[in-house]
Amino acid sequence: MEAKRATPSADQRWPWWPLLPLYPYGRKRTLVRELIPDQLWSVEQLQGVFYVAVPIRMTVARVRGGLMLYAAVAPTGEVRAALRDLEARYGPVQTIVLPTASGLEHKLAVPPLARAFPSAQVWVTPGQWSFPVQLPLAWLGFPVTRTKVLGDNGFPHADELRWASLGPLDLGLGRFQEFACLHLASGALLLTDALVAIDQHPPELFNLDPTPLLFHARDRGDEPLLDSPDRRQKGWERLALFASFLRPEALEVPALPALLSRAFRPGCRSLRSYFGLYPFQWRSSSTDAFAQLQAQAVDRLLVAPVLERLVFPRARPVVLRWLQELSQWEGVRWIVPAHYEAPIPYSAAQLSRLASAFEQRPWAPDQGNWGYLANLDALLLRTGVVPSEPLQ
Ligand SMILES: [Fe+2]
Repeated sequence: MEAKRATPSADQRWPWWPLLPLYPYGRKRTLVRELIPDQLWSVEQLQGVFYVAVPIRMTVARVRGGLMLYAAVAPTGEVRAALRDLEARYGPVQTIVLPTASGLEHKLAVPPLARAFPSAQVWVTPGQWSFPVQLPLAWLGFPVTRTKVLGDNGFPHADELRWASLGPLDLGLGRFQEFACLHLASGALLLTDALVAIDQHPPELFNLDPTPLLFHARDRGDEPLLDSPDRRQKGWERLALFASFLRPEALEVPALPALLSRAFRPGCRSLRSYFGLYPFQWRSSSTDAFAQLQAQAVDRLLVAPVLERLVFPRARPVVLRWLQELSQWEGVRWIVPAHYEAPIPYSAAQLSRLASAFEQRPWAPDQGNWGYLANLDALLLRTGVVPSEPLQ
């Protein structure tokens, strides 16, 4: 099912990393997996802040006479070589899709990817925004002569794919919108950020570099980075909690003197261990908190908590409408989000069940792990950064 390659590090270079200075910076390792034979492939890289690195995925779908790329990852030499291999078997990359208006991590790699495939058409979600100033797409490096807007200019491969918009929502600073895409040939429903299935165990991608897991498996900054399956699991659970809640309830930030007294000790004076700087202290079990997070899922899927609490807190009806629209589609067999595990076996009936579960359970709660996100949302609302009425 999968094609891994031993790759010289020169092929993993990503010179554009200063645009979004996230781990692993200038060197990106890539895992390429075939998800559905002869139909769908996953191209995965790690991306994160301060070692909270989560997998990000570009999905490659076979279309008539070639390939479509949904949500870009950095087109390192390794990625380009994998795509050239697929092109040799299935035909050229015809289409590159940016399926989100706000997800910067899916956007920055689109211009270099478009340059690597100069005959591909580029399709973007409307209302692209750049912060702090609004820049035209051309300034951001998009090839304007071959860039089209999803919806406004129709949809690519309309007889082979179905498209549905979640949003747009007004976020104050810009807008949220993403396009789901059903690949009819495989039954794979491609999603970006809204729904995820968080892997129970560390994703395979971390076999290429387990450092972020080992970093978070420690309880103090002066502990060395030791490797074992248990430590990888513990690190993964914590990393998923960070990515989901930004500051989970079980986490305490130690006072600065304690933090500095443990830093720069012998054995941790390296960049890999951030010189012993580790501003996290877990006051209760991160394993229990991870189990609670997983318990929110319905048939494995959940709304990413950061999105539920900061993007959708007052937009549950929009999410429900979108899920109900998707559940009307025939032929859904898999869900393939742009983060975490894929493909997840899923049917239209399950999508419908997911919508009713979201309708019945408390939405965007304030307590427990959600507390930090809830405070952040209240602050943004109070200061007028986000509008109280998010619908556009
Ligand atoms: Fe994303």
